[in-house]
Amino acid sequence: MSTLVEVRELRKVYRTGEVTCEALRGVSLEIAAGDFVAIMGPSGSGKSTLLHLIGGLDRPTNGSVRVGEHLLSALDETKLARFRRAHIGFVFQFFNLVDNLTVQANVELPALLAHVDRRTARRRAEELLSRLGIADQARKHPWELSGGQQQRVAIARALINRPLLLLADEPTGNLDRAAGQEVMRILSECHRDGQTILVVTHDPLVAAYAGYVLFLQDGQIVGRMPGGDPSGIAGRLAELG
Ligand SMILES: Nc1ncnc2c1ncn2[C@@H]1O[C@H](COP(=O)(O)OP(=O)(O)OP(=O)(O)O)[C@@H](O)[C@H]1O
Ligand SMILES: [Mg+2]
Repeated sequence: MSTLVEVRELRKVYRTGEVTCEALRGVSLEIAAGDFVAIMGPSGSGKSTLLHLIGGLDRPTNGSVRVGEHLLSALDETKLARFRRAHIGFVFQFFNLVDNLTVQANVELPALLAHVDRRTARRRAEELLSRLGIADQARKHPWELSGGQQQRVAIARALINRPLLLLADEPTGNLDRAAGQEVMRILSECHRDGQTILVVTHDPLVAAYAGYVLFLQDGQIVGRMPGGDPSGIAGRLAELG
């Protein structure tokens, strides 16, 4: 498989007044096209920071990120925004749906912003909603749905522009176990269809869905193991404290 994501010696220092925080301290990794990767590590170890830098939501202090043919440091703000919109799908813990739009309109929105024509956007949204088992919710508003349904809408929205890479930060963090498993089943299906996925999670049951797990500690990658075995993953995580 070809390399889709190439991260080289990534460093991120946050400066808040006099206080500096080294969130990433030299992270290098490669993700092949079609991989399903989980990132785990203690709170504050830099997981979200890494995800944000890979998705072009923020800039590194040092180091580089390449996604496909896009070297993010070479893009100005306008091009970086265009890159995110066209090539990255984001899923967050708190869904971040637009409350005064219907489910259908929420899913279509990124396509319309990317200048996909209305008919195509509608067709893609309908396809995704039925693939994710929520076609019957299309005319409702986000606040009329359960958490698990809202997260499925967020996944549909993230997929509508057929992103190179789907990034999910604690996608099950706000869901009960059953709804979380359902979301992971859906992500696994997307992976089987060829979608490259990077998911940050605290939950070994969630990480076990991935092909492999990377462990972060204090802003550095300190380990890697295959997915599949939640108790093995939990054991490794416990060692990190
Ligand atoms: N915008 C910011 N400004 C200043 N410091 C930040 C900022 N974002 C993150 N940090 C700090 O950087 C470090 C890494 O944060 P990050 O959010 O990446 O960790 P995380 O592994 O995602 O943690 P969690 O599991 O709690 O979500 C932490 O020490 C955090 O306090
Ligand atoms: Mg985080």
